[in-house]
This record gives sequence, structure tokens and C-alpha cells, in this order.
Amino acid sequence: CGIVGYIGNRKAVPVLINGLSKLEYRGYDSAGVSVNEGGLLKVIKCKGRLACLEEKLETEKLSGCMGIGHTRWATHGEPNDVNSHPHISQSGEIAVVHNGIIENYMQIKEFLKDQGYVFKSETDTEVIAHLVEYYYEGDLVDAVMKVIDEIEGSYALGVLCKDDENMFVCARKDSPLIIGLGEGENFIASDIPAILEYTRDIYILEDKEVAILTRDSVQVFNSLGAAVDKEIFKVNWDVKAAEKDGYEHFMMKEMYEEPKVIRDTINPRIKDGELVLDNVTITEEDISKLEKIYIVACGTAYHAGVIGKYIIEKLCRIPVEVDVASEFRYRDPLVSDKNMTIIISQSGETLDTLFALRESKKRGARILSIVNVVGSSIARDSDDVLYTWAGPEIAVASTKAYNTQLTALYMVALELGLKKGTITKEEADAILGQLKQIPNDIEKILENKEDIQKFAHQHYNAKSIFFIGRGLDYALSLEGSLKLKEISYIHSEAYAGGELKHGTIALIEKGTLVVCPMTQDNLFDKMVSNIREVKARGAVVLAITQEKHAEELKKTADTVITIPDVDSLVAPISAVTPLQLFAYYMALEKGCDVDKPRNLAKSVTVE
Ligand code: G6P
Repeated sequence: CGIVGYIGNRKAVPVLINGLSKLEYRGYDSAGVSVNEGGLLKVIKCKGRLACLEEKLETEKLSGCMGIGHTRWATHGEPNDVNSHPHISQSGEIAVVHNGIIENYMQIKEFLKDQGYVFKSETDTEVIAHLVEYYYEGDLVDAVMKVIDEIEGSYALGVLCKDDENMFVCARKDSPLIIGLGEGENFIASDIPAILEYTRDIYILEDKEVAILTRDSVQVFNSLGAAVDKEIFKVNWDVKAAEKDGYEHFMMKEMYEEPKVIRDTINPRIKDGELVLDNVTITEEDISKLEKIYIVACGTAYHAGVIGKYIIEKLCRIPVEVDVASEFRYRDPLVSDKNMTIIISQSGETLDTLFALRESKKRGARILSIVNVVGSSIARDSDDVLYTWAGPEIAVASTKAYNTQLTALYMVALELGLKKGTITKEEADAILGQLKQIPNDIEKILENKEDIQKFAHQHYNAKSIFFIGRGLDYALSLEGSLKLKEISYIHSEAYAGGELKHGTIALIEKGTLVVCPMTQDNLFDKMVSNIREVKARGAVVLAITQEKHAEELKKTADTVITIPDVDSLVAPISAVTPLQLFAYYMALEKGCDVDKPRNLAKSVTVE
């Protein structure tokens, strides 16, 4: 998850380690470096903290002045020494560090195996090392160009060749990489903090650009091989701002990552137009035996589960029960081998969730988990794992992980529905098509974030805020309300629109703020009636809806925030973003510590 590269007159290793240590806040599970020492590529890497790597480097000293380093956040293959980067090619000619996901690595791996290459790790990155070697005929840039023509997916790459003691190569697509310009030395890094101590002059590499670094020069080429005249970007951020890519908070940075991580979660799983869920081996026969599915999780992941219930029941016609893990595990649940339990967890370590998993397993259920951290306890204990490739999430309040949990749940529903025969291939393709559109929609929502900021500025003094919604919008309301409570400390409740009249409406008085996600076409009119009910009692209503409904809704709601038109079925994945932004700006206006709210922890490993 962190890349650093160096060429200059200093010893490379201390620069690499220092740079990587500046990226530690992002989270990682293993680390490694490779240095060219007199025409030999030496690699030292290991699972664990940077301190473990440093310990190893005490005994195996590397003295070269050019090298690459990496801290890994596992995606393909669990965290261990072998899967750590750098990866080295078959004959030791090439060393590679990589951030991102290579979507077609399986095909390339098959091809390379046929050419006699032997793979040591489970990573997608190792194919790059071997493929560069395969194409290498004395010109490293040429070989890297050929490789990036062939790989699909996202990458930031640092590549060393044993024959080239005075230069190395880097490239990127959909994964950040910068070049730091020094005096008689140059750097690469995935993030600015890694090199801030050495230089503030950087090139920001664009997609599909490749660069050659020597001590005294940096040359950048586009995908056609033509030289690119780069502009120097002067960094005037301090280290704290640099960690957040210039955003004020990790939470905002992570919301901005939503489009990318949703793409990362979907794209590698569509092969030749077919949905292929790696690591999910449940068969048609297994599915036909399922009498019921349980979804168990905590917090935001639980709210993703509530959406999952609606989607799976709709597309697969299997009853689904959603439960919070701490309740499920102690209530002698009616789980057996006729059930599947879907466990959702960002960290993969939440204790209650882990024990709910074990309880389910003990009773014979098949376990499918939707997890963000590869090799985590929950991932290891599951029969099938579908990873959400959201990358490390630093802000305590979950944002991008939730969007990817939803995305994964839709893919599970499609897979089960197709195998069970409750949806046709055409229907599944249509839904997949809609899912693929969502990242673009979120980009547009983020562009218009000022509308929400303005609204928050006017209403941050609210003492109590209600969220109401129907169907999927009810599930979404639960998450919107939680986000607000977590970071702004404003009391809030979420209610099903139709349930309002059975109690909550007694709390609505003049000026009470009511937030209404309204993305469900078939329930739109019902919600309009609910808005009228609360408005008649003096409420101020913020509605969030598709553009197509905006004009109509402006007649009833006080403020309407729009999201791009999207089918009601998949709407929650983009419609949650305005709710996250709302919580963010309310907290900001109140002067709260957005990234580290009081009393909360990112990962709760106690009961
Ligand atoms: C904690 C976090 C929440 C999170 C929940 C579940 O309470 O503060 O943001 O939703 O744990 O975490 P998990 O890692 O299992 O998704």
C-alpha cells in the first residue's frame, strides 16, 4: 500500500525505510526493500511491522544507492513473507513493487506458466515481475511499456533491473505515484509524506505514464513512448496535510476514494462480461438446499446487511434475517446446515462478529464473509470470502468500506440469483451495468458537495434529527443517522416512513429537522405523504432524490439534494454519499474531531 524508490548518492535503505515509516499511518501488514548491489538485486522482506524489516536489515546489510521499498496491504494472498513485496522475477533479473490490483493476472499467470515460469507467491504482482523479464531484451523501459500494454487494472509500479545500476523505472494507472526531484538524487513514492523530508518539488505521474529515473535526471513518457514535458508541482503542505492528500480529514479523502474502490470491487470480478466471484465456491446444489440466509455484522456493516436482506430476498427469493452480532451469538440462533450465514466486516476482527461466525459454523451453516482486510480472522474462518477492495480506512466512521460492502452484497445476490435461476442472465447483466455506472454518479455527487455544506451551515445547531425512508431508503436512513450520531454527536433516529405515525411523529415540532432519502420510485408518493405529515407539524425537510424527481419534490420538501438518475434497486450505493457528506459537514460546523470521534474505536476487539 506504500511505495518508495530512491536513486542518489546516499545509501538507499535508510531513505526507503524512512519514507515507508511516513506511510505507516495508512496501515499495512508486511514490508520489504530491494536494492541493486553491484549488478545483483537483493531483496529483504517480511510479514509484520517495519521494525521487523529493520531487524532483518541489521543482519543482512544492503549498501546500494538505488532501491525500491514497499509496505503491503494484502489483496491477493494473505499477509506472509512470500507474498510481501518486492517480487523478483524467475532469474532474479527484475524486482517489482506494486500498488493496485491486476485484474487479468490469472490469464497472464497461465501464459507465463506455459513459458516455464514458476510462481512462488499468491499475489497478482508476481506476474508483473516475470512478465517484465519475459519482455526484457536489454531495454527496461521498453519491457515495462509492453507489460503495461498487457495488464488490466490499477497499478503504481517501481521496477529495478539488475543490469541497470544507474536507473530504474516507474509507471502508474489508477493508483497514485509521484516523483520527487532532488539534487543529484530522485525519488518515487505512492504518497507525498514519504519524501517530504527530502524534497518539495514533485512530478505527479498521470495514468499510463512511464518514467526513467537516474541520479541526475527524470524522463517521463506517455503510453505511446513520446516524451512528456512535466510541470513541477511545489508542495507547500505540512506533513499532516500531506498524509491526507491535502484534504482536511481522512473521512473526506476516503469519500473521494469511493468511485475508485467501487470500481476495484466490481471490475476484477467481471471477466468477458460474466460475473466471476473469486473464492466463492458455493454450488447450485448448495444454494438449492438453503432454507434461509442470516446476515450478521455490527455497526455500519450491519446497516449494509439490512440493504443485503432487501436485495437478496428480491433477487434470490430466499428468506433473509439480519442480526447484530452481539445479539445473534447469545440467542441460541436457529441456524443449521440448511442455512448460510453472511458475515460482513471491514476489519475482519470485530470480536462479536467473529464469535457470531463461529457460533454459526458450529451449528453447520456455510459461511460467506464480506471483508476488507485480507487474511483477517473472519476471512480465515470463512468458507467463502468476497473481499471489498476498499483499501485501508483510517477515519473511524466508515464511508468507502460501506459503499463497497453494498457493492459486494449486490454481486452476491446476483451470483446466488443466477445459480438459483431466480434471475436471468439478461436481468443480471442489466444490474451489473447499473452498478458499473455508480462510481461516475458518486463523482458527480462529490462535485456538488457544497449544496450539502450550505445546508449543514444553516442547521448544525439542530438538537435532534430524524431520518425517514421506505424500503431500501429505510435501510439507508439507519446508516445516515448512525453516521451523523457518530461524528457530530447530534441525537438522531431513523424510522421507516410508514411507522412514523405509530409513535415518532409525537416528537416532531416546529423546526425539527427531518432527512428523507427518496430513491425508491414505487414508494415515492407514499414518502411524499409522510413528508406532508411531518411538515404539517412544523418540520424542516431535507430530501435526497434522483434528478428526475427533483422538480416534483421541491413542491413539498424544503431543500432537495439530487443524485444522478439511478435505478431504485442499486440507488443506495450512491445515495449514501450525500448522507455521509451531511454528517461530515454537520460535524465540521460543530467543530468536532471528525476522524476520531469521542468514545469510538475503528476496530472493536473486545465485547
Ligand atoms: C466499530 C466501528 C464502526 C464499524 C463497526 C464494525 O464500532 O467504529 O465504524 O462499523 O465497528 O466494524 P467492522 O470492522 O466489523 O466492519
